[in-house]
This record gives sequence, C-alpha cells and structure tokens, in this order.
Amino acid sequence: MSLINLVDVQVLGDERGHLNVLEANRNIPFAIQRVYYLTATQPGVSRGFHAHKELEQMAVCVAGQCRMIMNDGHSVEEVMLDSPAKVLHVGKMIWHEMHDFSDDCVLLVLASDYYDEQDYIRNYEDFLALATRN
Ligand code: TYD
Repeated sequence: MSLINLVDVQVLGDERGHLNVLEANRNIPFAIQRVYYLTATQPGVSRGFHAHKELEQMAVCVAGQCRMIMNDGHSVEEVMLDSPAKVLHVGKMIWHEMHDFSDDCVLLVLASDYYDEQDYIRNYEDFLALATRN
C-alpha cells in the first residue's frame, strides 16, 4: 500500500480561476480542529523530522512547492507537493520530512487535533522501534 495518499480535491473552476474545496469528514477523513501554515521558509531549510502517535493531518502547498518524504518505518516514499489540488494525507505514525521549499511556498496543514507536544515522536530511533515492533 502506498504511503502517498492524495485526496480527491473538489476543484471548481470557471473563467475567473480555481476554487478548491476540502470538507471535514467528506474528502478530509477527520474533523479539523486546527489549521496552520508555513510561510517564508528560508533557503536550504528542511522541516518536519517527526511522527505523531495519534494526530492525522492533510498537507497542501496552496502556493509554490516542497518535497515531502513519508516513512512508515518499513518503506520510504516521496512526493512533490506542487499543486493546490495535491492534498496529502499524513496519517499517524508516519515519519515525515519537508525539503526543497520554493521561495513562494505556502504549506497549509489541516490537523485532526490541537497542538500537543506529547503526541510527537521527535527521535528517529524511538520512531523506528515503535513503528517496527509488530
Ligand atoms: P514543529 O511541529 O516542530 O514544526 P516542524 O516540524 O515543521 O519544524 O513546530 C515548530 C514549533 O512550533 C514547535 O516548538 C512547536 C510549535 N507549534 C505550536 O506551538 N503549535 C502548532 O500548532 C505547531 C504546528 C507547532
């Protein structure tokens, strides 16, 4: 099973442009409790390098692009988020890294819960031990 699960964004378009729709519990598989977005990411900076025990997220570059690496402890896959219509599901227990942010990148993230540092696994060895224990 692929680690790259892109949701089906509803893209409504007419001569004025595009209107992209995401709806909780419809094309987003959870109720959205938090929204955050990364902007002005400095050249050469990579982010992420963690997994979540329970949190589920959707990530989309609403402008610009970045490269997302997804790792479930067994396999590693990557995807370029380079379109507002490419919305990636980042499930629980996925070690994820974002690289190669374009200068204009706005990475929007929809999250299933409020911020909770206790839900983070920030140490890669800890992640691997948990992800491969079964
Ligand atoms: P973090 O999730 O580690 O970002 P990244 O993995 O992209 O580098 O968050 C960076 C800091 O911001 C960290 O100290 C936690 C804090 N933070 C919040 O307080 N609330 C939030 O909703 C998020 C996402 C982060």
